[in-house]
Amino acid sequence: MADYLTQLSDEERMRLFNGVGSWNSYDAGGKIPSFSMSDGPHGLRKQDAIQETEHYADLNRSRVATCFPTSSCMAASWDKSLLSELGKTIAEEAQCQQVDVVLGPGTNIKRSPLCGRNFEYFSEDPYLAGTLAAEYINGMQALGIGTSLKHFTCNNQEKRRQTSNSIVNEKTLSEIYLRPFEIAVRKAQPASIMVSYNKVNGEYAAASKFLLTEVLRKKWGFKGIVISDWGACIGAVNCLKAGMSLAMPDSNGYFSHQLEKVYKDDEEVRTKLEEVNRLVIEAAQKWNGGHQQEADNSKIDFVAHHKAALRFATNAAVLLKNDGVLPLPEKSKITVIGGMAATMKFQGGGSSHITTAPHPNALESLKALGYEIDFAEGYSGDIRDTSEHGFAQAIEAAKKAAAEKRPVLFFCGLTEEFEGEGFDRENIALPEVQTKLLDQIIALGADVIAVTFSGAPIDIYFADKVRAVLHMYLCGEACGEACAELLSGRVNPSGKIAETFPFSEKDTPCYGNFAGEEDNIEYKEGSYVGYRYYEAKNIPVRYEFGFGLSYTTFEYSNLKVDVEKREVSFDLKNTGAVKGAEASQVYIQKEGADYPELRGFEKTLLEPGETKRVTVNLDENAFKTYDTTAHNFIPDAGEYTIKVGMSVRKIVLEQKVSVSAEQAVGQTSANTENTAYIPDLALYDSFFTNTFYEQHHKGTFTSADNLGDMAKESFAVRVILKIINRIILFSMRGKSKDDPSVKIVLSAIAENPLESLISITNGIFTEKLMSRIVRMANR
Ligand code: BGC
Repeated sequence: MADYLTQLSDEERMRLFNGVGSWNSYDAGGKIPSFSMSDGPHGLRKQDAIQETEHYADLNRSRVATCFPTSSCMAASWDKSLLSELGKTIAEEAQCQQVDVVLGPGTNIKRSPLCGRNFEYFSEDPYLAGTLAAEYINGMQALGIGTSLKHFTCNNQEKRRQTSNSIVNEKTLSEIYLRPFEIAVRKAQPASIMVSYNKVNGEYAAASKFLLTEVLRKKWGFKGIVISDWGACIGAVNCLKAGMSLAMPDSNGYFSHQLEKVYKDDEEVRTKLEEVNRLVIEAAQKWNGGHQQEADNSKIDFVAHHKAALRFATNAAVLLKNDGVLPLPEKSKITVIGGMAATMKFQGGGSSHITTAPHPNALESLKALGYEIDFAEGYSGDIRDTSEHGFAQAIEAAKKAAAEKRPVLFFCGLTEEFEGEGFDRENIALPEVQTKLLDQIIALGADVIAVTFSGAPIDIYFADKVRAVLHMYLCGEACGEACAELLSGRVNPSGKIAETFPFSEKDTPCYGNFAGEEDNIEYKEGSYVGYRYYEAKNIPVRYEFGFGLSYTTFEYSNLKVDVEKREVSFDLKNTGAVKGAEASQVYIQKEGADYPELRGFEKTLLEPGETKRVTVNLDENAFKTYDTTAHNFIPDAGEYTIKVGMSVRKIVLEQKVSVSAEQAVGQTSANTENTAYIPDLALYDSFFTNTFYEQHHKGTFTSADNLGDMAKESFAVRVILKIINRIILFSMRGKSKDDPSVKIVLSAIAENPLESLISITNGIFTEKLMSRIVRMANR
């Protein structure tokens, strides 16, 4: 290892801090090994070199790959083995595409259902999110492909994602927002962690010694490399000192330039650089080589992968309501309404967008199973079309269905304009054109079965007026076939929502305190995130955390709790007539606490009439609490209630247990907290005080500010921003400004700190231009 470093000149060492192009680490002209990266998380978005330079900003141009269900969908499976299989299957494609490190999974907490990127994340619960992330990582890394766990941390909104400042106290940060990362790091040691764009408590996460060194390395024992999100390295010297190992993408010399200025005189920079250089070379040695010599799509078993995508989707989709109308009678005549049955919505927009081969839609898939279909589009599947010209035909079809007493399947959901990277939603409503049509169809008295698509909670206000609701989430390329298998009953739905579906965004714990025009966002709700809030405050919700129905029924009995072993076991019986799987959940509530917490879960498949003894292993922290004096999780002896539930609100078995101080410690394993950890108190102090970020104005603008804020105060910058926007719209082949792939670029130009534009524009935006704009803005 040391040999490699001694071969590098000072210039090369500084260069090694930055990637080459958009997707590679530096190889110093072949002197050292390097590795290549690609998005992630629910499939490979491998951009070819030519496309990269020609259309870097066009996220939708990538090689054909399998699009698996997105993380919010996968999480609804509550199935650890599926997550591990997902990691493994994507790794097989990475091997054939010469990708060494896949940029995923994402395990940010869903603080609000409105975050535009929630579809890329697992859950509002840290234990569930961390456990599933660890399974994905272990599955992928077992095949020699590295992962990049993202986005570390408190990246809970998309608006102003590069300047927003998440202000969060120590207990909340540790118990809720850091915990999924901690679980994944301890259980799976990802090859890398991607540090997020935003600030936390007034400092950029990417430049936070507290987060990157104190917590990640010292407290959790992280061994891999810290990669910046693309364009998140603001102030290379500070980021390096904080513990960043690799800044992405290529800054065309800008980062080296910043380091050169201090290299000779700053010993900390030299020492730190040597340390992170070592880690990057080590990562390259370890992960480069998982792939084949030549990129070759023909070696990918797309047929098998598509089948896996279908199996994942059918195990994850959630039956939210069913009064007996589902499954559909075999080979019957059905009416289908909604453009989304034809042009299906199966993934979100942004850097996770996968280019797939064409696959059958729901109409084709239902037909293939022998259903006779009367289809009316009603509203178009085209994301920009809000016209009602298809309504008349749809109403006719619905009337006919009502008269003939057969159900109407209404397909609806969020279009690409609603959820994607770089922007958030304003409310949880479905597109108006869809709800207008749905209301008219319901008013006719038709028997409606709603089939819904979205990566995050939507307003299912029609729940009481329809006979069934099947929520497919964004379930990947096998979406059409998955709908057909579930609706027909070939597969019994077994998904349960890994997040709460509230009645309204106004009911959510951070309402009014999420993604505003200002950077400073106070996480005032503290640990009351998701169900923790709804349970503590007793707030009615549309569908509670962990809820999901089945075509069969289950019975729970004979609860046994073993505190020492951290084990809960019970008998689970399938009491219905069809095979089905049940996601059992174990919640634990300490006496006096105002909410229960998920501490274990297990999914079990049962034949009709079959009983199995299910054992659920509990979180190592099941009987611990975070202590802000010890700056760690500490044993919390006392009285606890162990609750086994079909959801957080449907508890079927419970038992009180007394946990002694000794028992609360639990068994120490590699995954438990580092008991030898000695916190750096000064770092804790500074990180949790003075947490507000001072926003800059004319006279104080720096390269860490963005064009949008500068434009508010400077006419000249306003003009520049307008011109840039025009150029972008022109260069993106006439797409509308509402197109998600355009939206993400436009928001990046307005909202990214200027320094970030240097690396993400691939050299178009230069250091010189940046200094000129800052001067202009301050004039
Ligand atoms: C996203 C990351 C992604 C990276 C590379 C960023 O804008 O936030 O999730 O991995 O781009 O495409």
